[in-house]
Amino acid sequence: MRSHLLNDATAESYRRSVIEGVERVADKLATTRGPFTGVTPAELAPVIDAVDLDKPLGDSSAALDELESVYLRDAVYFHHPRYLGHLNCPVVIPAVLGEAVLSAVNSSLDTWDQSAGGTLIERKLVDWTNGRIGFGPAADGVFTSGGSQSNLQALLLAREEAKSTDLSRLRIFSSECSHFSVQKSAKLLGLGMDAVISIPVDRDKRMQSVVLAAELAACRAEGLVPMAIVATAGTTDFGSIDPLPEIAALAEEYGAWMHVDAAYGCGLLASPTRRRLLDGIERADSVTVDFHKSFFQPVSSSAILVRDGATLRHATYHADYLNPARTVAEQIPNQVDKSLQTTRRFDALKLWMTLRVMGADGVGGLFDEVCDLAAEGFALLAADPRYDVVVEPQLSTLVYRYVPEGVTSPEDIDRANLHARKALFASGEAVVAGTKVDGRQYLKFTLLNPETTAADIAAVLDLIAGHAEQYLGETLVHA
Ligand SMILES: Cc1ncc(COP(=O)(O)O)c(C=O)c1O
Repeated sequence: MRSHLLNDATAESYRRSVIEGVERVADKLATTRGPFTGVTPAELAPVIDAVDLDKPLGDSSAALDELESVYLRDAVYFHHPRYLGHLNCPVVIPAVLGEAVLSAVNSSLDTWDQSAGGTLIERKLVDWTNGRIGFGPAADGVFTSGGSQSNLQALLLAREEAKSTDLSRLRIFSSECSHFSVQKSAKLLGLGMDAVISIPVDRDKRMQSVVLAAELAACRAEGLVPMAIVATAGTTDFGSIDPLPEIAALAEEYGAWMHVDAAYGCGLLASPTRRRLLDGIERADSVTVDFHKSFFQPVSSSAILVRDGATLRHATYHADYLNPARTVAEQIPNQVDKSLQTTRRFDALKLWMTLRVMGADGVGGLFDEVCDLAAEGFALLAADPRYDVVVEPQLSTLVYRYVPEGVTSPEDIDRANLHARKALFASGEAVVAGTKVDGRQYLKFTLLNPETTAADIAAVLDLIAGHAEQYLGETLVHA
């Protein structure tokens, strides 16, 4: 069994195995004709159930053969131009190369003595991101597993900075379109059920700062504590960006922590043409960025950035075995002092490789392309009498609904749209997402693939209309 350990004696076998795996995936990518096969859980579960984990295959070629039927054949492929579903991007090759390196070397970024250069690389990327945000020299941050964890850590810092002994008095303000991890974080942080005050959005799905101002005033009048305002720079459904300068001014007036959830919109930090959409972000106390959404990075790659690095002390604990207090005086850079995690992947290496190969303009330019594509898609939808499109995109999502002529029941239209989404998924021809707007069923394109064209969008809209029409034809005839 020692032949499977990766070390000096097995370097050749490592090379062979990994190359074989890379070749299988490369073949798969080159020959995959759709984003999905349409396999159902009922079809796939027995295939996986049939694998006896107590009977190993012994060599990696056999395991790769088996992987074809248990995973690769039916995976959902984000690189395919007709994958238009959730906030998943196709990945860039330099980042995938970084992933291969980081898992083989397997540094753990909690302490210097488990990572050395890895720690310094992560720190440099944190500084680079802070420079793009416009934070000053006191800024700091740390990589995390994803936007949910970044938001949790930001709100933990906000809670501690609020310095209130009565958690039930703390309030968080975020728009009705903010990500659900805000509510979840409030719960995890021991705040009350009513801690998150949902602020309505305007027609463009941006937080209404006038209502925010009124809610903050009411909060103060009731003797409650405005702990944090979460502005979203790129809402999950609409890609809308809350009015950051106005929110920053209110946060300053009320002494509230300003967190910007730029999990999605962070791609603008590298955009050669659209960076201004994030103006005001530099006034935040903390920012969430998900490189695995709009920097074309493999999952996971995210970070929490803070304007004042000293606030990260709220996540600091010293353990004798790992990061004893003396290491601070010795100026040993231990990232665990800033993180909610202990053992932690060297995800930063993927972004490092990306920037070293492509440069910021290169990766930001790709994000610009998908934003341009969304504008084209909006024009298509707006001109198509079959569809109702909700809002002109600031980033790269489109939310729309098939509205057939002559069908007046909103419930029938809901069911037709839901059916079309499911039927499309089952066909494997394209993958789209869905969401609710004012209680009604809508469909969503999240455009993150520069290889997707306006012709793809038009073709998928025809497919959706076809499925919806067929459903309505069958159900209304039989009603
Ligand atoms: C605006 C926003 N914030 C946070 C998250 C959560 O990020 P993650 O899935 O990386 O935890 C998402 C995910 O879609 C998001 O859209």
